[in-house]
Amino acid sequence: MENLTKRAASDLIASKYAIALTGAGISTESGLRDFRGPQGIWTTDREAEARAYERYERFLRDPKSYWEEMSGAEGTYGAFYRRVREAEPNPGHYALAELERLGLIKCVITQNIDGLHEKAGSKNVVHYHGSVDKLRCASCGSRFGFDEISLEELPPRCKCGGAIKYDVVHFKEPIPSDVMEWAEDEALKCDLMLMCGTSAVVYPFATLPRMLRLRAKTSAKIIEVNAEPTPLTHENISDYLIQGKTGELLPAMVEAAKALLEVQKPP
Ligand code: APR
Ligand code: ZN
Repeated sequence: MENLTKRAASDLIASKYAIALTGAGISTESGLRDFRGPQGIWTTDREAEARAYERYERFLRDPKSYWEEMSGAEGTYGAFYRRVREAEPNPGHYALAELERLGLIKCVITQNIDGLHEKAGSKNVVHYHGSVDKLRCASCGSRFGFDEISLEELPPRCKCGGAIKYDVVHFKEPIPSDVMEWAEDEALKCDLMLMCGTSAVVYPFATLPRMLRLRAKTSAKIIEVNAEPTPLTHENISDYLIQGKTGELLPAMVEAAKALLEVQKPP
């Protein structure tokens, strides 16, 4: 394992524009369950998964009942959202922030709604599936803090007249165009992708590493840091998998990178 984190460190140093792509796995060591791991939320509660799959259509069909559902246990006052808000970053998040400070990664594209990358100090973060502490107009895409919108009348409406929903991207909901463009722009610029704690089965996010492999063939590096192999591993889309915990492996990668940079320093 030590060799693989060292190898990743030297690949990062050799890269011109590396980015990190993260999923729920990087936040499990912060006490937030993932979705499809052995203890995952969907793995252990298929009904909750089925309800989540219906959520966006419910919003389109009847935004008032969507808000009634989201104002209950499934929503902002429920255990899941409370735990997400109370969570603190772990060494995996801090390691990515450190790699950004060292200039070794330029951006984090995350599927996580928890805001832990910023809490750990990451600056350039793309929230591909939205943020837990924001609302968004489904028509014009404007975003709001919860304190900016009155929930007296449901659904809350935007100045443009559009219905407002949680900023979180639900299943079957299109990724907001500003986020999609930003993520694709970063993916097109990069020559190395560090996939951290994601099963890489949810689309369109999972197209990002596939686009890179198609575009850059072997000249780009795709490195997975995950507790288990993913379709990217099985289909040889990634160059290698460093199997284990992000909270242990990413800090080791930072230490290895710092040691290499030290050696490379001119005398
Ligand atoms: N370190 C490394 N890997 C981990 C750790 C850890 N500490 N904990 C869990 N994992 C791995 C799991 O084994 C799994 O392969 O992280 C992966 C998490 O995968 P998912 O649960 O599928 O999460 P994610 O890929 O982020 O899901 C994508 O699906 O449910 C929707 O919108 C939700 O953004 C989410 C999207
Ligand atoms: Zn609007």
